Amino acid sequence: MSKTAILEFDGNKYEFPVIVGSENEAAIDIDKLRALTGAITLDPGYKNSGSCKSEITFLDGEEGILRYRGYAIEDLAEKAGFLEVSYLVIFGELPTQEQLVQFENDIRKYTLVNEEMKNIIDGFPKTAHPMGVLSSLTSALTAFNPKVVNVENEKEMYEAVCKTMGKFLVIATWTYRKMMGFPLNYYDNTKGYVENFLHLMFELPTGPYKVNPVVVDALDKLFILHADHEQNCSTSTVRIVGSSHAGLFASISAGVSALWGPLHGGANQAVLEMLEAIQKDGGDAEKYLAKAKDKDDPFRLMGFGHRVYKNFDPRAKIIKKAADEVLNTLGVDDPILDIAKKLEASALVDDYFVSRKLYPNVDFYSGIIYRALGIPTEMFTVMFAIGRLPGWIAQWKEMRINKEPIGRPRQIYTGYPLRDFKPMNQR
Ligand code: SDX
Repeated sequence: MSKTAILEFDGNKYEFPVIVGSENEAAIDIDKLRALTGAITLDPGYKNSGSCKSEITFLDGEEGILRYRGYAIEDLAEKAGFLEVSYLVIFGELPTQEQLVQFENDIRKYTLVNEEMKNIIDGFPKTAHPMGVLSSLTSALTAFNPKVVNVENEKEMYEAVCKTMGKFLVIATWTYRKMMGFPLNYYDNTKGYVENFLHLMFELPTGPYKVNPVVVDALDKLFILHADHEQNCSTSTVRIVGSSHAGLFASISAGVSALWGPLHGGANQAVLEMLEAIQKDGGDAEKYLAKAKDKDDPFRLMGFGHRVYKNFDPRAKIIKKAADEVLNTLGVDDPILDIAKKLEASALVDDYFVSRKLYPNVDFYSGIIYRALGIPTEMFTVMFAIGRLPGWIAQWKEMRINKEPIGRPRQIYTGYPLRDFKPMNQR
């Protein structure tokens, strides 16, 4: 691998250092580019631009590889629990049994959300989208936890991690309770983290909620699969907001808003709406594949394609297998799953998708499991946010501890040259 890159520009030659990562990815360090050449690079959507060095997640889009802190996603999904993986993603190592118990107990110290937060959620209409409510409530947490985290202080940073993990789960489930007109539940410190998600979501004052271990296991796996994904849109948002030294809650609130978009985390809701539309329209998968291929038709095959994966998204493979298992175990026979499989099978042999390397991504099958678990479609992206929370925290923490500079991209101006002010009577 060459140690430098040579740029010939405007009759001059410039040499830039090449940085090589631990998995042999190469980057040309253009830190001095503008100072030396007067020129910048232009890369809409940052398809070719790295924003940082990171030790958290490695993914190889061509090979369909995903690892958190060096551990394969397949191993973690199969052998670990969500809090265990959250600890790994945030602190860099798999926890010992003692560390994991301590982490879960330390999260429990912060699971009571200030009662006045209920006044805020009361201000929303029941019809408000849960992601909009979640972003607002997350930002509102700052009002009740105003202390600025000293990221250099390990104890303060650890407490902020536990507080965020504890409170975010509660307010995320409140968005569902608000939508349903149910009373808001409290975290039960005698229960586990994922078990509490079900308790917070579905426990009603009229009777006890019986937790199904199959559901807990499926959710554990789903949350693990969503825990981090290097510099995706919402994580980059969390990093850039945090780079101004805005607080962790404010940064995560921005990440929730970015995740909401149907091209990103909102795709899991869009996939179910697409599958339901196909089912309503007679289940004709071929008709919708044709629409997805038609340049004049804005319809896209939601849950397909990925900015980085040009092979199968390894998470999609695991989720597809889990969907079969969960629906079989719960005795759910959902025709939507058959439509999804038909779409996938046809797309995988269709030249339009094959030539563009469009494969099912993490969002294609996840909604089918959520639906089988009784979670409404509007809550699917909130589920994604709950899973992605440890990744957002880890990436924010890494960015701040590494003292990354404030994010401020350049641009190429293409507007008017200087012109004289035009008085009103001449416009
Ligand atoms: C997530 O980045 C991450 O890591 C994200 C994520 C994470 O964990 O954080 O993995 C989670 O966001 C997964 C992606 C969920 N989104 C969707 O499922 C929405 C549908 N997918 C597409 O909108 C699209 O594939 C994107 C947004 C995911 C990626 O878009 P790119 O990389 O900008 O690719 P593109 O839009 O330039 O498309 C390249 C070509 C185009 O055709 P041509 O102009 O070359 O003829 O592929 C076509 C596109 O029209 N195309 C699709 C398509 N996706 C791309 N055509 C039909 N259906 C699709 N789904």
